[in-house]
Amino acid sequence: MSGDQAKMQNRDADLIEQLNRLKKERNAVILVHNYQRAEVQDIGDFVGDSLELSQKAARTDADVIVFCGVHFMAETAAILCPDRTVLLPDAHAGCPMADMITAEKLREKKRELPGASVVCYVNSSADVKAESDICCTSANAVKVIESLDSNEILFVPDQYLGHYASTQTGKKIHLWPGYCPTHTRIRREDIIQKKQEHPQAKAVVHPECRPEVIEMADAVLSTSGICRYAAQPDVREIIVGTEVGIIHRLQKENPDTKFIPMSERAVCPNMKLITLEKVLWSLKEMTPRVTVPEPVRIRALQAVDRMLATV
Ligand code: 13P
Ligand code: SF4
Repeated sequence: MSGDQAKMQNRDADLIEQLNRLKKERNAVILVHNYQRAEVQDIGDFVGDSLELSQKAARTDADVIVFCGVHFMAETAAILCPDRTVLLPDAHAGCPMADMITAEKLREKKRELPGASVVCYVNSSADVKAESDICCTSANAVKVIESLDSNEILFVPDQYLGHYASTQTGKKIHLWPGYCPTHTRIRREDIIQKKQEHPQAKAVVHPECRPEVIEMADAVLSTSGICRYAAQPDVREIIVGTEVGIIHRLQKENPDTKFIPMSERAVCPNMKLITLEKVLWSLKEMTPRVTVPEPVRIRALQAVDRMLATV
């Protein structure tokens, strides 16, 4: 180990010690998304996908939820737990896809499609959730759509997850033109090249990927779905078609499996804004807090609760 690496390790150990002390004092829980930096994943009380994290938030008895993820995830925790303090250690950690739709734009579209049920991906603001009939995540989009009586769906804001769901259900799905700038960096050429280089490997992708990438994959799964897939005893080599941060967890849980990023460019800069220093600062200062105005929260909660009752 180099001198610099040793210094870094000591610094992290010191931060973690302070963090654990404060966590106890505040009765806090640290929820971490699968795309977070390795060192942030390692201090999490729970690391998971959007669905698991909202389920954890709904059940926690902690007074403070430190959400290491992006804004819509912390906001979902605030929708579910209005009596808890929800902290997002960097207020600028947003999701560009969630910003590709507003409640006003959605209301306009609903007027054009009065017969359609509105399904919103959890990657959306509380205002958009409040205008929707039901929420979904990448883990349950197909199941949620199938659970609805209506055969006509308006799916917002991710056109690619919506398109994937339309191929799995017989329903008419109107798509919103939103997309994830990180997953759309993964191109058809990337999956072709990686499959050629690693002919034995399974290619697993997130449903936010482009349809031409999804078409060539062996499995289409949420981030935690990818983690469960990797735990199968007969899988030894996987091409990972999602944000590269997940490879830390995959490698930690499956040390003998080889993980190959489908594209090194699939990095979500917003997820990487959360650092150990910011988590400690946030818990010390009890800021930045994420809250949702009560009238919006009550309506958004209906959409989230309907989803949680379906899965
Ligand atoms: P998961 O719910 O699959 O973790 O996905 C969240 C997300 O933002 C993917 O980009
Ligand atoms: Fe949003 Fe994409 Fe980042 Fe997920 S990976 S948080 S969808 S920008």
